[in-house]
Amino acid sequence: MNMGTSNQICIRGVSKIFSGRGAAVTALADVNLDIRAGEFLVLLGPSGCGKSTLLNLIAGFTKSTFGSIQHDGAEVTRPDHRRTVVFQEYALFPWKTVQENVEFGLKAQGVAKKDRAAAARQLLGVVRLAGFENCYPHEISGGMKQRAAIARAIAPNPEILLMDEPFGALDAQTRVLLQEEVARISAETKKTIIFVTHSIDEAVFLGDRIVVMSSRPGRVREIHDVDLPRPRVPEMRSDKTYRDLVDTLWLSLRPDWRAETGDVTPKVSVEMVR
Ligand SMILES: Nc1ncnc2c1ncn2[C@@H]1O[C@H](COP(=O)(O)OP(=O)(O)O)[C@@H](O)[C@H]1O
Ligand SMILES: [Mg+2]
Repeated sequence: MNMGTSNQICIRGVSKIFSGRGAAVTALADVNLDIRAGEFLVLLGPSGCGKSTLLNLIAGFTKSTFGSIQHDGAEVTRPDHRRTVVFQEYALFPWKTVQENVEFGLKAQGVAKKDRAAAARQLLGVVRLAGFENCYPHEISGGMKQRAAIARAIAPNPEILLMDEPFGALDAQTRVLLQEEVARISAETKKTIIFVTHSIDEAVFLGDRIVVMSSRPGRVREIHDVDLPRPRVPEMRSDKTYRDLVDTLWLSLRPDWRAETGDVTPKVSVEMVR
């Protein structure tokens, strides 16, 4: 595995056009991006700007229309246990216990029963779910389900963890706690994490770099380095560096969000008043 500052994922000239029934949608246009081994990279942008499309291409779930994505120099053509995904919706198997869910990927890799039970228990400790091994997903809270989903995703020891708005369905307080968990897990495991969000706070709290995407078609518009030390701790949310970057990103993304919500520009509203 590449370490240090080498590029682990290289995205070159990637476009994705969806052409089903109706008009073709250019979800991504000419995306170029290098992702370094061990970094925490955030993809930030409004709904519909192509964040999930890009994550799914990196995962190998879908193929780009143009361009290439390489993982350590090899073209990504299919999903692979070296890259695992945590989705927004709890993708746990409802008929399996928390423990069995976490063991799932290990079973597929042929790990012996005793070893995968031990590994799952250790990982459930990491995500603070010790004691809930035998619960079914419907018996635990949304935040706990996402903890279990994270444990399941890191069980096969992937090189890269892909997270697609993993906390989007959680209440604000749970979300903040899970951000802190992910900051800790990222510091402990040193895995590359590619994290999709439309929350500016989440992006600044977690990211080493923030890739700001714009919509129609989805493009990389800006890349910001987050100049905060690791591990990230809650107190950093009141640092000047943190606040300044949040403000910068708000100003940058505000026009996109106005457009997304159908908000009219001030110029138009003044004309309407006249
Ligand atoms: N399978 C698909 N078929 C057709 N259009 C799609 C498909 N998936 C995504 N799109 C379109 O591509 C664009 C980007 O979508 P997506 O990557 O889901 O954005 P985001 O995750 O940033 O909200 C949107 O306009 C969306 O409607
Ligand atoms: Mg999405």
